[in-house]
Amino acid sequence: MNTLNRNTAQRRSKSSFLSWWTLPIAALLLSPLAAPSLAADRSDHEVPRLSLGDLGDLFDGAAGRSAGPSGSEALTSAIAAAQSGPSFKDKKCVDCHRKFGPEAKGLHPIITSWGCDACHVDAHLGPQQRYKWLSTDLTKLCVRCHGGKEFNNKTQHSPVTFRMCTTCHDPHVSEKGYLLTSDEPLLCFDCHKSDRFLRRVRHSPAADGTCSTCHRPHSTESPKLLVKKGVCFSCHDKDEFAGGKVVHAPVQSGDCARCHDPHSSDQDKLLVAGDLCVQCHKPEAFQGASVHSPVASRDCSSCHRPHKSEARKLLTKDTPGLCFTCHDEREYKGKKVVHYPVKSGECASCHSPHAGAAPFLMTAAKICFECHDEKEFDGTGKHIKADHRWCVGCHNPHQSDHEHLLRKKR
Ligand code: HEC
Ligand code: HEC
Ligand code: HEC
Ligand code: HEC
Ligand code: HEC
Ligand code: HEC
Ligand code: HEC
Ligand code: HEC
Ligand code: HEC
Ligand code: HEC
Ligand code: HEC
Ligand code: HEC
Ligand code: HEC
Ligand code: HEC
Repeated sequence: MNTLNRNTAQRRSKSSFLSWWTLPIAALLLSPLAAPSLAADRSDHEVPRLSLGDLGDLFDGAAGRSAGPSGSEALTSAIAAAQSGPSFKDKKCVDCHRKFGPEAKGLHPIITSWGCDACHVDAHLGPQQRYKWLSTDLTKLCVRCHGGKEFNNKTQHSPVTFRMCTTCHDPHVSEKGYLLTSDEPLLCFDCHKSDRFLRRVRHSPAADGTCSTCHRPHSTESPKLLVKKGVCFSCHDKDEFAGGKVVHAPVQSGDCARCHDPHSSDQDKLLVAGDLCVQCHKPEAFQGASVHSPVASRDCSSCHRPHKSEARKLLTKDTPGLCFTCHDEREYKGKKVVHYPVKSGECASCHSPHAGAAPFLMTAAKICFECHDEKEFDGTGKHIKADHRWCVGCHNPHQSDHEHLLRKKR
């Protein structure tokens, strides 16, 4: 056995101790991601196959003397150069494959410490048993050494599940760091369409292209490859969103992405939809015989805060103060007689804030009889007989300068 073969045998016994994951080949072939280069080992490749006779000679060459591997002339001279030394060492591969030489920046550490045959076997010795003379299938190769938790958490990135490490990493060398084939976000845009990151309103960390502030590339315990749960709070102050007396349910549960696109959006404030609130709250609740103008225009946030509030029902302010932000307060207080429920601020006892069953957002059609006894107005009592539709003809429902809320002085 010559030196090279002994080397190979040693390496094989070493690698059998390394644990690695097996990928069901069927799954790989079914995957839309299966790159053609993975599909099969190739043995028809036109690459110099050196005879065993040449071999001992070839790898004896003095370092650095040969030309680059370009064409048969270079090959011939490399072989010639190889004939003058006694021993084979892995680094001789780089006499020809100089891109991977020790002076290269960003070299895979295993090349420096172990050499080419950490991954290739019997290169140039004969027909390729495997694609590129690799020692094992490409999908099994990297995880022989890189098999840790980093790659096996609950949420796995699809190309990692299918062990297609070389979609992002160059096996040999890269100046980008971590052997990456390109920088973020271009690396990611190879597979993820860039449009959704570039809509009108852009979230600055995503627009910066630093996807890794929020995502891990391989696998995570949290969903969507997020670095952690509650990732938003690593930059936004938690108290500002979830630290109030009343906290909106989806905020409480940390589902910020139900309302905001974390990357970009065509809506202001990165909202996922124009009529956001009725994505979850049934639109029927905001329809009726009369609809409040700000509700009709879906301006829910004129009355509600989206995240949290000190007032009940996430209101920006309690009623009636809320109503007076748009309606003139003087219409409801200050006159001689103020209707009791108006005085006590219970606008909502007569008006629905969203939409009413009757005109003027009334909560009920016979609104006055919700509190006043209908029988008192049938003409048998001291009040004149009156239909419910007429009450506001004589009485102002809110306030008046005249007794009994009468619109006109008697
Ligand atoms: C005498 C020069 C020379 C030496 C020494 C040499 N190679 Fe090559 N190698 C070439 C040339 C030329 C090619 C074909 C051109 C190319 O792909 O760059 C090639 C191609 C390859 C390929 C690609 C095969 C393919 O299917 O595309 C691999 C892998 C390879 N060499 C590995 C090695 C390894 C590992 C060593 C050391 C054991 C080595 N080579 C030593 C010249 C050499
Ligand atoms: C960590 C494993 C690993 C090591 C170590 C390694 N290679 Fe490779 N090499 C690969 C893989 C994987 C491919 C196939 C890449 C592909 O096609 O996706 C490859 C492909 C090649 C090719 C074909 C050209 C190319 O870029 O696709 C050459 C040439 C090559 N290797 C030479 C070498 C030489 C020379 C060394 C030692 C200096 C070496 N390799 C060390 C994994 C390795
Ligand atoms: C024979 C073992 C072995 C194989 C096979 C192997 N690696 Fe490595 N790899 C290493 C070692 C050792 C290191 C250095 C580890 C360290 O620094 O902690 C390393 C480091 C790396 C790094 C980090 C580089 C840096 O700049 O920090 C990446 C990325 C990497 N390998 C990717 C791959 C990929 C992709 C493959 C398959 C093509 C692969 N490795 C196959 C042993 C291996
Ligand atoms: C989607 C692209 C992508 C794929 C696929 C991918 N990686 Fe990575 N990998 C990265 C990025 C980006 C980094 C550097 C940033 C980081 O770790 O946060 C990295 C870093 C690494 C590192 C060095 C840092 C560390 O975490 O130890 C190793 C080793 C590594 N990858 C190995 C692999 C292996 C093995 C596979 C295949 C099972 C693989 N990668 C698949 C993108 C990828
Ligand atoms: C080689 C192609 C490829 C590259 C490169 C790639 N991805 Fe992916 N990624 C996928 C595929 C395939 C899926 C799963 C398909 C899907 O659900 O849309 C996925 C899913 C994801 C998911 C969702 C995971 C989940 O559990 O739903 C995130 C997040 C993600 N990728 C982020 C990234 C980031 C960040 C980068 C760049 C560092 C990147 N991807 C690069 C192919 C890729
Ligand atoms: C500010 C944090 C943040 C940054 C930065 C970020 N993402 Fe995300 N990304 C998320 C969150 C949160 C989700 C989960 C959305 C969800 O649950 O619907 C997500 C989901 C994804 C998904 C899964 C598809 C989906 O919408 O469900 C992909 C793919 C993705 N991100 C890619 C990227 C890429 C590529 C970058 C860099 C350009 C990036 N992300 C930057 C937070 C971020
Ligand atoms: C890495 C830091 C960082 C993380 C993590 C982060 N953000 Fe931001 N976010 C920012 C910065 C910076 C701004 C811009 C602040 C400004 O303009 O005042 C911003 C702005 C926003 C805006 C307002 C956008 C606008 O157009 O006014 C929203 C909404 C937002 N982030 C939601 C989120 C959500 C949801 C998450 C979690 C998925 C998140 N952010 C995670 C840094 C971050
Ligand atoms: C129910 C939907 C919803 C949820 C869930 C939600 N938001 Fe918002 N967020 C909004 C709306 C609506 C606005 C715009 C408010 C406005 O225009 O006054 C907004 C605005 C913002 C802004 C911009 C603040 C400003 O004043 O400009 C940030 C930052 C933000 N949200 C972060 C978050 C974070 C972080 C979470 C998760 C804790 C989250 N949001 C959850 C609906 C939501
Ligand atoms: C992702 C789904 C979702 C979206 C979008 C959403 N909500 Fe909610 N909202 C809920 C859930 C869940 C509750 C709690 C259960 C319930 O009361 O129906 C709730 C409750 C409320 C409450 C009652 C709070 C309390 O203390 O009783 C108000 C008010 C409210 N939402 C307003 C809004 C407004 C305004 C918007 C738009 C900015 C909005 N919601 C968007 C899911 C959502
Ligand atoms: C004019 C102010 C105003 C507007 C605009 C408004 N609301 Fe309200 N909303 C209120 C008031 C006041 C309450 C409390 C009613 C009560 O007393 O129970 C309320 C209550 C709610 C509740 C809780 C209902 C319950 O039974 O607990 C939800 C959900 C809600 N609003 C959603 C919305 C949505 C969605 C929009 C936009 C389509 C919207 N609101 C627009 C004032 C408003
Ligand atoms: C954000 C501003 C705003 C707030 C807050 C507001 N309203 Fe209105 N309201 C309007 C507008 C605008 C109209 C339509 C006025 C017009 O048509 O002249 C209106 C009309 C009304 C009407 C007449 C409806 C009809 O069908 O003619 C009633 C009743 C009413 N509001 C009651 C209330 C009550 C009660 C509150 C407090 C819970 C309130 N409003 C809070 C803006 C507001
Ligand atoms: C006792 C029932 C009742 C209460 C309580 C009440 N309203 Fe009214 N409101 C009515 C009726 C009835 C009408 C329509 C009759 C009319 O004026 O022609 C009306 C009409 C309105 C209108 C539209 C017509 C106009 O007057 O401009 C507004 C706005 C309004 N109310 C606001 C409020 C506010 C704000 C409160 C709380 C401060 C309130 N209402 C309390 C019964 C009530
Ligand atoms: C939410 C209950 C409620 C509703 C609805 C209601 N009222 Fe009243 N009303 C009262 C109370 C309480 C008083 C005070 C009774 C008392 O002092 O004995 C009152 C008193 C009055 C008075 C006498 C005021 C005075 O100073 O003598 C008139 C007139 C009146 N209401 C008219 C109406 C009309 C018209 C309607 C329908 C538009 C109506 N009310 C609806 C609760 C209501
Ligand atoms: C034609 C005008 C007119 C109509 C219509 C009318 N009222 Fe009156 N109402 C009056 C006058 C005048 C008084 C004062 C009676 C008095 O001094 O005896 C009064 C007094 C009242 C009072 C306070 C005194 C009491 O009897 O307790 C209430 C409450 C009242 N009306 C409610 C109503 C309701 C409810 C309606 C509709 C069903 C209505 N009114 C319709 C003219 C009217």
